[in-house]
Amino acid sequence: MEQPDDLTDFVRHLPKAELHLHIEGSLEPEMVFAKAAKHGIRLPYASVAALRAAYNFHNLQSFLDIYYAGVDVLCDEDDFRDLTLAYLERAHANGVVHTELFFDPQSHTARGISFDTVMKGLLAGLREGEQKFGITSQLILCFLRHLDAADAMHTLQAALPWKQHIIAVGLDSSEAGHPPSKFAEVFAAARGEGFLTVAHAGEEGPPAYIVEALDLLKVVRIDHGVRAEEDPALCARLARERIPLTVCPLSNVKLAVFKQLADHNLGRLMHAGLCITLNSDDPAYFGGYIGDNYVATARALNLSRTDLIQLARNSIDASFMAENAKAKWLQQLDGMAT
Ligand code: ADE
Ligand code: ZN
Repeated sequence: MEQPDDLTDFVRHLPKAELHLHIEGSLEPEMVFAKAAKHGIRLPYASVAALRAAYNFHNLQSFLDIYYAGVDVLCDEDDFRDLTLAYLERAHANGVVHTELFFDPQSHTARGISFDTVMKGLLAGLREGEQKFGITSQLILCFLRHLDAADAMHTLQAALPWKQHIIAVGLDSSEAGHPPSKFAEVFAAARGEGFLTVAHAGEEGPPAYIVEALDLLKVVRIDHGVRAEEDPALCARLARERIPLTVCPLSNVKLAVFKQLADHNLGRLMHAGLCITLNSDDPAYFGGYIGDNYVATARALNLSRTDLIQLARNSIDASFMAENAKAKWLQQLDGMAT
């Protein structure tokens, strides 16, 4: 039996990329209270502990309701900078060498916070984080799929002056009833502007949404995608076309996609030849950062060290890093092979 500390240590030393992380989902309750106090915002919770105790979700929507309420305390550039830097500090402690952050501009612009304020704050945090921790990064702008396509198109227009700082557009929020097809035109416009595309699909939604994301949105990665397993032909396609899935096991359990971690299909998908990466999604809400996801999943599914190295390799391979940077990290991972 492996000693728990050995496994944690092993995972921490694996150079890895985090490819599915909502920066707003790294907002810890302590920062919610600090920012609320700074801006004179009254919270409907008496304490940090009371807020944390409310993190009891039964599906995606029950989480999103509390997640969108949380972001209301983020108001100025410093707030976005502090949030980003706090995440990068945690990521560094978890062995993350590169991260591709999702952000949800519509959850801020709808409150009167400008797109520019969000971008300036995020970029300040990312710059400082790279200087302090050596973590490289990219930004992925996510459209909120519960809003209409016109709102997404408007957001795309607002993003154009910041184009060189945003590698891709994505799609998140309430999946059921909001298929990728709703955003085909927006994603075509985004691709026309040179953005790569990714999308959350097959988290709660059916495998058909994954197919739509591939065929209509031309995504290069699927976020979550765990329901692909229900469609063997789709699984074969994902493996053949090397479309990575950014899987988030602790999130999936918290949002009742799987009853318990031992039921998670990450190991099966990986051993069926899919390019699976392991990520934290919204770590402040789901009980763990990326290292916790690796360790808890390894224990629950009996993953070997070779499997964990493969997951780290996949994260580097599936990232939008330059080829020479990928080669550097992959070589380091080669040296860790057991
Ligand atoms: N926004 C933040 N986390 C999300 C998730 N897991 N699924 C969809 N939208 C999200
Ligand atoms: Zn997500």
